[in-house]
Amino acid sequence: MGYVGLCTAATFASCGIPTIGIDIDENRIQQIRKGQAPIHEPQLDLMLKKAVKRNLLDATTDVSRVTDTRSSFLTVGTPSQPDGSIDLTFVKKATEELGTALQNKEDYHLVVVKSTVIPGTTNNTVKPVLEQSTGKIVGPSLGLCANPEFLKEGTAISDALHPDKIVIGSNDKKSAAQLTRLYREFYRSRLPPVITTTPETAELVKYASNAFLATKVSFINTIANISQHIPGVDVNQVAEAIGRDPRIGPLFLKAGPGYGGSCFHKDLQALINHSQLQGYDPLLLKATEKTNEEQADRVVELAEKLAGPLDQKRIAILGLAFKKDTDDIREASSIRVIDRLSKKGARLVGYDPMAMPNFERIFGDMIELTKDPLGALRGADCAIVMTEWDELRKLKAKDYIAQMRQPILVDARRIYNAPEFKELKFAAIGLGSVA
Ligand SMILES: NC(=O)c1ccc[n+]([C@@H]2O[C@H](COP(=O)([O-])OP(=O)(O)OC[C@H]3O[C@@H](n4cnc5c(N)ncnc54)[C@H](O)[C@@H]3O)[C@@H](O)[C@H]2O)c1
Repeated sequence: MGYVGLCTAATFASCGIPTIGIDIDENRIQQIRKGQAPIHEPQLDLMLKKAVKRNLLDATTDVSRVTDTRSSFLTVGTPSQPDGSIDLTFVKKATEELGTALQNKEDYHLVVVKSTVIPGTTNNTVKPVLEQSTGKIVGPSLGLCANPEFLKEGTAISDALHPDKIVIGSNDKKSAAQLTRLYREFYRSRLPPVITTTPETAELVKYASNAFLATKVSFINTIANISQHIPGVDVNQVAEAIGRDPRIGPLFLKAGPGYGGSCFHKDLQALINHSQLQGYDPLLLKATEKTNEEQADRVVELAEKLAGPLDQKRIAILGLAFKKDTDDIREASSIRVIDRLSKKGARLVGYDPMAMPNFERIFGDMIELTKDPLGALRGADCAIVMTEWDELRKLKAKDYIAQMRQPILVDARRIYNAPEFKELKFAAIGLGSVA
């Protein structure tokens, strides 16, 4: 019942499919049982409340309840290990618990690996653990599929309701057919294209998808960094123009402080590690990651260019979440920028509409947090916009001028129209005409 599990369960239940959510986290389960979402995600709270009220979604820590169902989705985390490979501890443990609970189930049961796992994991890791714990062989009485998830945080519910495709990797027709039937019941006439393939291909589709998107971000950030040195160039216009080419497409061409979130960095590192273990060095993917890591330096350079040496300067960080409409700070670019600013001796003050509790828990000693954006700006020598929150978009030049000791603004998210900030010392990623 983490991000993927809860969003999947809530959407299944909201379409009338009775669903049971299982997690080892008792607090999380209690919250869900009350119809309260333990994560912030638009539409989720309401959907959850309705599903719980209609008795279509139950939540429990008791894994034996899987015997009341026909299909189980494994949606546990697959975090990074220091070498970039994924840690399969949760996958193995959850599979074993699920398998043990299924030992005495007589009817056919389908197990679906929805977690993002390196190609080969479903067949080489999940399958043996499942067979051993159930005492059954994957095949006629026990199904196993890989079915990666493509939802995005911030739009997870709408993504789950309107996916562009469903990818099902299976070793036999029976398991793929049961999963396709379930999705047909769920989507009815809106069933997207279903790509049925091997588990390994399905697993790689997920990594290839995230690697491509991350590369697109690092690509436009590279063009932004080049633009920075050419007066009169605006990377947004470059992006708009190239995005009209259908071979390129307009999405994920927004220059900024670099990608964050729980997946891109983790998945790229896992793919790089896996590829290197097989004897192939994926240079492009390594460059994508390095460009992203160094994008934080570009943001700090802009601040230094406008404000001079940052030692003892008070810097306001506006936005901490890795993107708007989420309280998730995992791998957020704000963390990389804050780290660099701290090393330069800057005094940091931050604001975020949602992510401050999460930020305070982990990085509370690095930054002072304020309850509104104006509080963060008060007395600051420089402000850096790190997340594209609508609330920050509404701030005007006069708000910065009224609060700051020196009105210096770095728009690392390109949320402002530069001419409206002429009275400030203003810089933005990929805008060649720095004041
Ligand atoms: N978050 C995303 O946007 C996203 C999108 C697509 C794919 N994914 C992938 O989906 C997987 C899950 O990601 P997430 O962000 O939902 O993770 P998460 O950390 O939010 O949730 C994982 C949940 O699993 C629970 N758990 C751990 N062990 C368990 C067990 N033995 N039995 C039952 N529950 C157990 C944890 O308590 C936690 O609630 C990962 O592989 C991730 O890469 C995530």
